[in-house]
Amino acid sequence: MTTRSVTDRLGGLAFGGDYNPEQWDEPVWKEDDDLMRRARVNLATVGVFSWALLEPEEGRYDFAWLDAHLERLHANGVAVDLATPTASPPPWFTSAHPDALPVTPDGTRLTHGSRDTYCLAAPAYRDAARRIASALAERYGDHPAVALWHVHNEYVTLCWCDHTAAAFRRWLRRRHGSLDVLNEAWGTAFWSQRYTSWEQILPPRATQWHKNPGQALDFRRFWSDEVLAAYREQRDAIRAHSDRPVTTNLMLPAYQNLDLWALGREVDLVAVDHYPTAPGRDAAADTAFAADRARSLGGGRPWLLMEQGTNTVYDTDRVLGKEPGDILRHTLGHIARGSEGALFFQWRQSRAGAETWHSAMVPHAGPDSRVFHEVTAAGEAVARLRELAGSTVTAAVAVLHDSDAWWALEVDGLPSSELGCHAELRRAHRALWDAGVTVDFAHPEHELGAYRLVVAPALFLLSDAGAENLRRYVAGGGTLLVHHAAGYVDDRLHARLGGYPAAPLREALGVRVEEHRVVRRDERIVLSDGTHGVAWSESLRTEGAETLAVYTRGMLAGGPALTRHRFGDGRGWYLSTRLEDADYGALVVRLLTEAGVGRDVPGLPAGVEAVTRHASDGRRWHVLINHRDDTVPLPVPAHDLLADATAHTLPPGGCAVLRMP
Ligand code: GLA
Repeated sequence: MTTRSVTDRLGGLAFGGDYNPEQWDEPVWKEDDDLMRRARVNLATVGVFSWALLEPEEGRYDFAWLDAHLERLHANGVAVDLATPTASPPPWFTSAHPDALPVTPDGTRLTHGSRDTYCLAAPAYRDAARRIASALAERYGDHPAVALWHVHNEYVTLCWCDHTAAAFRRWLRRRHGSLDVLNEAWGTAFWSQRYTSWEQILPPRATQWHKNPGQALDFRRFWSDEVLAAYREQRDAIRAHSDRPVTTNLMLPAYQNLDLWALGREVDLVAVDHYPTAPGRDAAADTAFAADRARSLGGGRPWLLMEQGTNTVYDTDRVLGKEPGDILRHTLGHIARGSEGALFFQWRQSRAGAETWHSAMVPHAGPDSRVFHEVTAAGEAVARLRELAGSTVTAAVAVLHDSDAWWALEVDGLPSSELGCHAELRRAHRALWDAGVTVDFAHPEHELGAYRLVVAPALFLLSDAGAENLRRYVAGGGTLLVHHAAGYVDDRLHARLGGYPAAPLREALGVRVEEHRVVRRDERIVLSDGTHGVAWSESLRTEGAETLAVYTRGMLAGGPALTRHRFGDGRGWYLSTRLEDADYGALVVRLLTEAGVGRDVPGLPAGVEAVTRHASDGRRWHVLINHRDDTVPLPVPAHDLLADATAHTLPPGGCAVLRMP
């Protein structure tokens, strides 16, 4: 099994990125060596898309070129995160195995010519992937340059082909045991959908009107398990030859094709890619969201930012160009929240091919450029943070996140198209981020007792076990805030009967929701405390809870909108509408006060991000990022590792990492 952590091998935090030397030649490689030293690069991800070079034809390997690059990198003090190239099968593979090409829900079979064109459930693909992973591990398992294994790249592709259908049926048999149980779970009694043979069941392909929601949810679960199985096959093939840690890079935060909690348990180190899609403070908040999630997926273990951009990502609607200073700020935003370094996609900007216009550490303009200067400054900064390696981050607040609940809000026929998981999670996290509080994500069935406050923003689906766990959490002294439309369905997407949410949670919240009323897009609800809601409202009855605000208009007038229930030793709050951002932010501050949670680093004004990393021996560091336009005095002057001097103030846009006494 794994012997040493990545940072242990590197002797500090990781800095570097995807390195694709096969796009270049000898003089450029020489320059790469020099520039990597200048930028303090100590980890390069190699081979992510190199399948066609490594295995030019089925079963014939060519490792000579990779041997040479690994030797060169090693000699230059750069360790390697060695990837298996399975996200990009070469043309020979798809020509030989056309059945392994992915099929979209409407039946279109894709062709090669891009990347990610494979069906994970196709036996030929799985065999080929395992073989190349095994061959690489056999050759490089003990290579002194290799510090980490990088299986595949961003498992995000889905498929609806016949291989998928066969695998889906096998999965369904295991899950449901019998067709009767499946029919019951999927509610096939309605719309004449009853199955009388397993062979009749298909993945949720294009069809008329709503797809069956149970089928859609089970398909997401099945696919996630299929991905995990594919990951495990490669991981285990590697472990047979290597004692280095193994991971795969997740695309966070908006992709949700996997049960991220399950994946977090399978990897030796959680690794994520992150490309914020908004400028300024919004990018910093998005960074914090992704980073807190990455840390949480590994149960608080150190994790690694595997990819970020230095600047624009070809499509400016998606990822804006970074402002001067963002490279360091975003790098530290991740490290503050537990990342063991910061890597980029990619080292040198391609001069041809699919990602020519994707920014890189060495841009087309070359090293004499703003971007490369900022990259070297960030590399120098990360090198100064050596002592943070292995330290962790703790949080007093958790936001609940469940893949099932996410997928439940993506099926057809929901009560409102305004319901959705990602945006609600973001809003909750953002309000807490604005309040200067570090947040963990947790699953509704996790042990929550260590948190002073738990926020449940989007638990439309809530299992019986989850509802009971939340009841227990409040009874035990926790403060819980549950947002609208919670616990409406169980884990089969069956509606909760007798009033929402699920019974044990109703007990903790002291409310019973009888009816929901969707709010028109042009309408704004006014509550009695002067706050405003949008999108959703509910008719509810208190059953023990006190009413803190009521609806003021229409048929809900006078009915409770915001409630609080003293239950056991804790309090359960229920918010039955979507408050506007400023009002929601104020509510979150009120809850933090009630739960006794202060800013992570007291004495700093809003707009200064501050997170503490703790070492197991009691040492701790405050990582500070000033998102404000003014200079901020520090409450306690301390030694700043970045400047190697005592810091008294933080300039606009400035960063500091304070070693605390
Ligand atoms: C992903 C991939 C990279 C690159 C980036 C572009 O994260 O892993 O190969 O394509 O997207 O932002």
